[in-house]
Order: sequence, then C-alpha cells, then structure tokens
Amino acid sequence: MNEPVVLGIESTCDETAAAVVRGHDLLSNVVASSMDEHARYGGVIPEIASRAHAEAFVPVVSKALADAGMSVSDVDAIAVSAGPGLAGCLAVGVSGAKALAWAANKPIYGINHVIGHIAVTQLQFGAFPPDTLALIVSGGHTSLLHVGDVARHIDVVGTTLDDAAGECFDKVARLLGFPYPGGPHIDRHAQAGDPHAIKVPQGLTQGRAGREHPYDFSFSGVKTAVARWIEERRAQGLDVPVDDVCASLADSVAGVLARKAMRGCEQYGSRTLIVGGGFSANSQLRAKLLEVGAEHGVEVRVPELRLCTDNGAMVAMLGVNLVEAGVAPSSPDFPIDSAMP
Ligand code: KG4
Ligand code: ZN
Repeated sequence: MNEPVVLGIESTCDETAAAVVRGHDLLSNVVASSMDEHARYGGVIPEIASRAHAEAFVPVVSKALADAGMSVSDVDAIAVSAGPGLAGCLAVGVSGAKALAWAANKPIYGINHVIGHIAVTQLQFGAFPPDTLALIVSGGHTSLLHVGDVARHIDVVGTTLDDAAGECFDKVARLLGFPYPGGPHIDRHAQAGDPHAIKVPQGLTQGRAGREHPYDFSFSGVKTAVARWIEERRAQGLDVPVDDVCASLADSVAGVLARKAMRGCEQYGSRTLIVGGGFSANSQLRAKLLEVGAEHGVEVRVPELRLCTDNGAMVAMLGVNLVEAGVAPSSPDFPIDSAMP
C-alpha cells in the first residue's frame, strides 16, 4: 500500500486547524486561533470559541488542502478530534468533518486529541522505539503515558488529580495581572528571576491518605500556596517580586514533571521520553527535561513549538497511524466526547 494521505481537523478549544500528512511527511498545516478574542475575559469563552470555529472551518480546511496541492477526493481518510475538549467546539469540527467525509465518500476517524499530541512527534523524530513514555502537558491535561502501540494501546501511567500545569500557570498569571494565556508571560519573567527566592511546595510527592502516588500530579496546592504568598505580601503593603515569583513557580512545576517522568522511565525501562502539549513550550521545563534526560540516559523528544500547541498535523498523523494499523474507521454517527479519557 502507498503511504496513506490523511486530512486532520482540530477544534477542541480555541484553535481551528487542519493539515494534510502523507506517511510521515507534513504537506500542509494551517491554524487559525481565537485566542485574542478571549484575552480580555481572562480565559476561553466557549460560545466565542464555537462561533470562531464555525467561521474558520471552511477557510482553514480549504487552505490546508490547497497548500498540499489537493482536493478532498485525493485523501485516503479524514481524521478529526472527537475529544476531550469543549463540547460546542468539538461539535463544529466533528460535524464539518462528517459532512466532508460523507460528501467525498471517505472513511472518517474520530480521534483522541491527547494521543494526537503524542503522535505528532513522529513528524520530527520518526517512529516510536519500544517502551516509549510520553509526558503530555497543556492547559487542560497533565499526563504520563506509556506508548505500547500509538494506534491501539496507550496506558495511563499518571495523570493530574486536579489542576493541569498550564491551568496553574494561567491562574497565577491572572493574579499577577498578565493577559490570557498567562503561561508564556510567566516563562519570560521567570528567566529574569531567582528560582529559590520563594519556597513553593512540590506538587504531590505524597499521595492521598498517606499513599504514594508516584506518577500522579497535583498543581492546585502549588497554585494556592503562590496565590496566598502574593496576597499576604500585598496585604502588608509590600512589593511582589514578579520575576522571582515566576521563577520559583516554574522551577517547582518543571522539577516535579521532570522527576516523575524520569522515575517512570526507570520503572518502564524507557530510553525515550516524548513531550507534547502547549505547556511543553515552557523554557524551564524544556531545559530541565533535557538536563535530567542526559543524566538518566533518556532521549528527550521535544517537538518544535508549532507542533507543541494544538494543530491539525497531530490529528492527521494519528489518522495515518490508524490507517496503517488497519484500524476500522469510526461509524458515520460517532459522538463527540468532551471528557474522553
Ligand atoms: O495544548 P494547548 O495549546 O491547549 C490545551 O489543550 O490546553 O496548551 C495551552 C496551555 C496554556 O495553559 C498556556 O498558558 C500554556 O499551554 N503555555 C505555556 C507556555 N506556552 C503555552 N505555559 C508555560 N510556558 C510557556 N512558554
Ligand atoms: Zn492540546
């Protein structure tokens, strides 16, 4: 069989995106974001995001096909994120993808967005070695996953019990007066600060009821501790050393993520760690992972920034994996699943 050509469509949150992948080659990649429209509200407003998807869907998909020099009749399959994400946003992308698949008589795959963040690394680094672990960190999810077979078998090694890392950064950023999304602002200020200036707790080294949760994450306590520290300073009429707060927060979060990822690699005998999701753009996390990876003999695969944030290439790449593995397409009436595990 020739290398499959798949059109991937993404609309889980505030990016409307489409891409065409042939085998492991990215032929086109188009992203439209409604992020600026949410900034003044301090977070993503689902209704605004859904409307933006409805407006952007046709132009984005058309451009992705045109950039690849194709029409929809040239692709072997269409893949679309079916969850997890905002229900109204998913409904726009999935309905559009279904209509396109029906009109062009193409098979359609409703895929898991989080697994797409893993799959996309193949475009830059090639196939997964056996026993690869994946650390997926974004605004909505923090997960450590064991990649058995990306098309059929992914095990959850650890996951967040409350706030995701990106969420924690965004909430502290709001307290510091940065616009949404605040993560990149914290990153920039952290580069000028002292990471040991403020004592920030290490999220979940001990688990609930005294049980050890070696691979689960919790960043809600970290967020609360930093928020309380800022509020107490302000109540005393003292300045808040913004760079130091950001550096201390970033150091704590990057440290926990890196430590748990390495512990997981040791237990699973993994020599490769894949990193993905919007938060993997974070400079402190990237530096920390590369440092501990070198110490532990683990190759850390952090993709270029445009593949870290939400995009259509991740969906198309996973679609290629499913076609190549001979996985049956989704039924034409498959549902969206906003809480897809
Ligand atoms: O994966 P993503 O694009 O969307 C979700 O599925 O959530 O991730 C967005 C998250 C936001 O919380 C944003 O603040 C965070 O990634 N982020 C960063 C950086 N760039 C994006 N957080 C820290 N440092 C960054 N450089
Ligand atoms: Zn994402």
